[in-house]
Amino acid sequence: MVVTFRSLEAEDKTQWLTLWKGYNDFYASDLSEDVTEYTWARLIDPGSSMFCRVAVMDGAVVGFAHCVLHEGTWVTSPICYLEDLFVDPVWRGKGVARELIQFVLNEAKAQGWSRFYWHTRIHNPARKLYDEFVPADDFVRYCVSL
Ligand SMILES: CC(C)(COP(=O)(O)OP(=O)(O)OC[C@H]1O[C@@H](n2cnc3c(N)ncnc32)[C@H](O)[C@@H]1OP(=O)(O)O)[C@@H](O)C(=O)NCCC(=O)NCCS
Repeated sequence: MVVTFRSLEAEDKTQWLTLWKGYNDFYASDLSEDVTEYTWARLIDPGSSMFCRVAVMDGAVVGFAHCVLHEGTWVTSPICYLEDLFVDPVWRGKGVARELIQFVLNEAKAQGWSRFYWHTRIHNPARKLYDEFVPADDFVRYCVSL
């Protein structure tokens, strides 16, 4: 099984939309088309602070990592936040997400970014995978929806 990793490209839109729908279904989220279109536009805009790396098998996009680069008060180089991670259910359990995270991590190191982080729900079984990269810390999240 050969998986390759690269940036999201304009031609990927149909495949990306299918995966994005799967991700939204996973979170039982009903995002408006406006948000989806705006997200797509930023992910393929090289001038945006958001970016997407995809996993590709036999020419098909089978997973994505959506990231946001932001500044930080404790550092002098950007911090990379992994906001969304998804692998097509058909291709799960084969190490695709592990390699995708490693791909972004390698990029973060090569770019000299200062931190690479993500959140997940406390009981998400994917924590087994995340624990391979770094132990979870003891911060908790406070989030006011506006
Ligand atoms: C989480 C997700 C991206 C993992 O993708 P994946 O390609 O199947 O993960 P990998 O094959 O690289 O997993 C590597 C290891 O973690 C384990 N693992 C990863 N996700 C798991 C899950 N959801 N349930 C059980 N085990 C999981 C695998 O068993 C595997 O362990 P092994 O190598 O000892 O067998 C995928 O399950 C997914 O898209 N889930 C729905 C969305 C989601 O939860 N996204 C993350 C939000 S923080």
